[in-house]
Amino acid sequence: MSHPSAPGRIVVLTGAGISKESGLDTFRDQGGLWAQMRVEDVASIEGYRRDPDLVQHFYNTRRRELGTGRVEPNPAHLALARLEREWPGEVLVVTQNVDDLHERAGSVNLIHMHGELLKVRCERCDRPLPWREDVTRASLCPDCGRAGTLRPHIVWFGEVPFEMDRIIAALERCALFVSIGTSGHVYPAAGFVAAVRQAGRAHAVELNLEPSRGASLFHEVRTGPASETVPAFVAGLLAGL
Ligand code: APR
Repeated sequence: MSHPSAPGRIVVLTGAGISKESGLDTFRDQGGLWAQMRVEDVASIEGYRRDPDLVQHFYNTRRRELGTGRVEPNPAHLALARLEREWPGEVLVVTQNVDDLHERAGSVNLIHMHGELLKVRCERCDRPLPWREDVTRASLCPDCGRAGTLRPHIVWFGEVPFEMDRIIAALERCALFVSIGTSGHVYPAAGFVAAVRQAGRAHAVELNLEPSRGASLFHEVRTGPASETVPAFVAGLLAGL
């Protein structure tokens, strides 16, 4: 494996697969979330307008799961936080995940491109607010005081992911791009490896349980559970310094 010329910038993209071993469902694996619920019912603005209670229930259930104390960062999250601490160049984690496991593992330079379960957004004030309880029609916005205006701070299909300018700039500048635990089904994240290859300067590595849809675009694909592949990959990078 060719190491980036230290201290090159590293961009890491993560998907639901990195949180699987922490006990959180993925979306498209056997028995995943999209086998349990229809995407269009709970992950689209049309579904929210049609049945806000169903959508709030879906996210209330997932938000509550994070607070049970049973869901903890796993060695893959911890290895990425170690990489950020010990790598002499910038390490940016761009996650599609809406859980808080990267933060709890210690990652700081982090973008939640699909939003965050532990935040809501008032449709009047349009500002994200930290929120851990269930959201109901009676929930009041602490800023404007209105009820029924708090939606999950989640990017639904058909909506624009957050901080795309910052992400694209980082992809074009990085020396190493690592994709972890994502199936490569959903754009724009599924297109990041093509953007990196287009820029022509980074080494692109996929760490996934099995090759993703975009596997052929990576210089290197390592299969296996993230809790094993990510710590080993990070240890190899740091040993090469
Ligand atoms: N270790 C590593 N990879 C794993 C593990 C594991 N323990 N378990 C599963 N995987 C891999 C699967 O092989 C699959 O390729 O993680 C990937 C999960 O794919 P998806 O379920 O499609 O999740 P993701 O790619 O994050 O979905 C992207 O789709 O529905 C939207 O907004 C949602 O952010 C999500 C986006």
